[in-house]
Amino acid sequence: MLSASTDGQREKVRKKASKATNNKIVLYATVRVNLSAVDLVPSSIVMYSLAMSAQKSLTVLVLGDVIGSPGRRMVAQYLAALDPKPDLVIANAENAAHGFGITEKNLNELRQAGVAVFSGGNHTFDQKEIFTFIDREEYLLRPANYPEGTPGRGSCIYAVAGVKVAVLNVMGRIFMEPLDSPFAVADRLVGDLSKETNLIVVDIHAEATSEKVAMGWYLDGRVSAVLGTHTHVQTADERVLPGGTAYITDMGSCGPADGVIGMDRATVFRRLIQQLPSRFDVAAGPAMVNGVKVELDTSSGKALSIERVRVIGEVKSPAED
Ligand code: FE2
Repeated sequence: MLSASTDGQREKVRKKASKATNNKIVLYATVRVNLSAVDLVPSSIVMYSLAMSAQKSLTVLVLGDVIGSPGRRMVAQYLAALDPKPDLVIANAENAAHGFGITEKNLNELRQAGVAVFSGGNHTFDQKEIFTFIDREEYLLRPANYPEGTPGRGSCIYAVAGVKVAVLNVMGRIFMEPLDSPFAVADRLVGDLSKETNLIVVDIHAEATSEKVAMGWYLDGRVSAVLGTHTHVQTADERVLPGGTAYITDMGSCGPADGVIGMDRATVFRRLIQQLPSRFDVAAGPAMVNGVKVELDTSSGKALSIERVRVIGEVKSPAED
């Protein structure tokens, strides 16, 4: 039985613990109280374990271009097996429909697998049906530097784990369509998004390495991450830039491992070697998941780390659509 003075000490500890909870501090405290001899029983050590209620950092998994059904299925397999799960999964999905565009069915399949935000690029509008759903899909992006009036949106803000994460998608212009300047558009939109949150992830969908490297340096210190997509081949230059922006030139692709950037070799050879018209097909065989895992500081918005993800395995279901 506890003495009256010990009860008082317990009350002090309870109040202290309650205050810590209200302040959203993670606390796992072992508290000893003064006891009389009669109280020396195992329960004399009181352990207070308080629930975690705030996150100092956020784990964001960002996946490179998802290609066709092998890509969609590998992403689903990979995300299902992940333990622990990331706080947020973002994927470039402009090649989800057999390599060209994305259908509503593909979008729902990837969302079911755990992807929350979808970025795009030069293939975003390849499937006609996208015009029936892009405007109502808040977390499905197309490059922000398309001309004004283009359906869809180039950025969004996703709320997760008590914080807001902005995702911005821009496309390069070197060896690509002559869109508005991705630098000028990024300037404007990063300014707008910064009023809402300091956690900003940018997908730069571009062909030229130089344009992507330039974007990384241009936005360093202003956004949390600048991550490249489009070439389907992962680069090994991931780093956190001096201003605190995580950067990689290209995250690579999620799809066939043995094709030519995801496409069936024979259909590509016909065009590149024989110089004949060829309709590209998604390759069969082993598939891979490529991307990066970034750890972001939720108070400063800066990247704490960037780590490449690259997994090659067998896709469990046969490639179809
Ligand atoms: Fe692309």
